[in-house]
Amino acid sequence: MKGIILAGGRATRLRPLTLVTSKQLLPVYNKPMIFYPLQTLIDAGIKDILIIIAPDYSGQFLNLLGDGSEFGVHFSYIVQKEPRGLAEAFSLGEDFVDGDDVTMILGDNIFLGQDFSQDIKNFKKGGMIFATKVPDPERYGVVEFGENNEVLSIEEKPVAPKSNYAIVGLYTFDHRVCQVAKNLTPSARGEVEITDLHKFYLNKGELKVNTFEGTWEDAGTFESLLRVSNEVAEMEKLTDSKK
Ligand code: TTP
Repeated sequence: MKGIILAGGRATRLRPLTLVTSKQLLPVYNKPMIFYPLQTLIDAGIKDILIIIAPDYSGQFLNLLGDGSEFGVHFSYIVQKEPRGLAEAFSLGEDFVDGDDVTMILGDNIFLGQDFSQDIKNFKKGGMIFATKVPDPERYGVVEFGENNEVLSIEEKPVAPKSNYAIVGLYTFDHRVCQVAKNLTPSARGEVEITDLHKFYLNKGELKVNTFEGTWEDAGTFESLLRVSNEVAEMEKLTDSKK
């Protein structure tokens, strides 16, 4: 299993913080943001990790992360010239993936107290994504479940969501994903959509959606960045008090 951290993008919602650095390098309490998704991959036993970054500030990622040996893993880097969509990670990363299975995590997605390692280690074939209940599903990809928990539909940012289950930024696919990503056409907003990859596997009956309860933040706004920083601070205090 290979790993990808998608850490490009423009981060317009966090300006002016992101005028001089990348979102994924901003502090979340006591660590740079990218350490959290990195830890999620490391916890799942993934050792070969591609970090996709935007051209600006790419040197800062190298300074911070190096070749991965400090973390007991190996890093590769690719620069994504323009943010052309989440699915582009798999076409950019095709040589890196090299026919293996791959788990991608978004560089601003923070899971606290979640353990996905068994799901990822037990992955065999197809696609596996994760969903959790949110109060504002219209902001995300939304999964509709049937009576027996089968997936009926997936819609990207629906005006009238069919459930409260949002798809989070952690995705495991088999090697076919790179070929499918290469053949995608951009959506009306000009991006290659990750939802189209989900639909490829859904249409084949090979998409598994695991639900979870627990802290998940997409730290892309001032509010969510502050909230997750406070949550980490609380967790650290609890851990310190138990020492
Ligand atoms: P977004 O939060 O959707 O986009 P953004 O980070 O550019 O922020 P904003 O909407 O405020 O302008 O991206 C989610 C994650 O995926 C984030 O870590 C950036 C990354 N990303 C890329 O690396 N490449 C891309 O083409 C896109 C769309 C996102």
